[in-house]
Amino acid sequence: MLGLRCFPQSNYLKRFYRRITINCLSNSIQPLPTSNLTLCFSSNLSSFSISISNIHQYRKLYATVTHTSNSNVTTSSTESPLTGLEDDLVGYVLGKKKATEVAHLVWKHVVQKGDTVIDATCGNGYDTLAMLKMVADESGTARVYGMDIQRDALENTSSLLDENVTPKEKQLVKLFSICHSRIEEIIPENSPVRLVAFNLGYLPGGDKALTTVPETTMMAIESAKRVLVPGGLISLVVYVGHPGGREELETVESFASGLSVDEWICCKFQMLNRPLAPVLVFLFKK
Ligand SMILES: C[S@@+](CC[C@H](N)C(=O)[O-])C[C@H]1O[C@@H](n2cnc3c(N)ncnc32)[C@H](O)[C@@H]1O
Repeated sequence: MLGLRCFPQSNYLKRFYRRITINCLSNSIQPLPTSNLTLCFSSNLSSFSISISNIHQYRKLYATVTHTSNSNVTTSSTESPLTGLEDDLVGYVLGKKKATEVAHLVWKHVVQKGDTVIDATCGNGYDTLAMLKMVADESGTARVYGMDIQRDALENTSSLLDENVTPKEKQLVKLFSICHSRIEEIIPENSPVRLVAFNLGYLPGGDKALTTVPETTMMAIESAKRVLVPGGLISLVVYVGHPGGREELETVESFASGLSVDEWICCKFQMLNRPLAPVLVFLFKK
């Protein structure tokens, strides 16, 4: 156990305390002083839970606040899935953070060790690698399913994994040379998929004419909707600078705008005065 003030990642704990205080206020109970907070965490520091003295009064809050890996806060059903990421999202719209960097931070917020996740557009493998690092653990239950229509892309992804992960970790990744509209053909039935990520456009360093296209992208998103578990995320980084890119964004936006508010939280982040910058679209399944 450590006291709040001793823990090295004090920024995250400040956020925690702020959230607890907000929760207290919305539950009409007196916010608790920081001296009443203690932390229990696992030996590798990858996860910890927060424990509160006078637990009887705060039992409800205890149930709703957990914290996993680094700055990632697993949100309770009463909170926004983006809580705690405000600075990163603002960083994107102010041009201080890259789209993929912010997308990865949002994934980390949702994904847990041991999860099944899908990279629907492997490309050079950076997203596949990021996903693998988020889900891989000793249990070996995690799976990263990756796909691309270009052999080069899958070879690049495989090489990147060879350079950055152990053979045991790499075994958790299953790569397929198919169109992402066929996601459901490769995911074992009843696999609880937590994340499906799309990085639309062309393969960097490859043939710029070979891009994702609205028709198959939409079929893939429809499949993603079906395989995703509640609490899961469909993440899209949409590049608009190439021919057809803007039409693809419009198709994705029109689809997302029509999803039921009772079942989905849909949002996008875009820099208006940088019209060619990628657009981030997140579809959270409630
Ligand atoms: C922008 S790149 C992806 C970048 C990648 N995620 C990374 O981390 O390097 C887009 C990729 O989508 C692939 N792609 C295009 N159409 C596809 C389809 N129908 N199904 C699967 N992949 C597709 C392209 O071949 C290209 O490699």
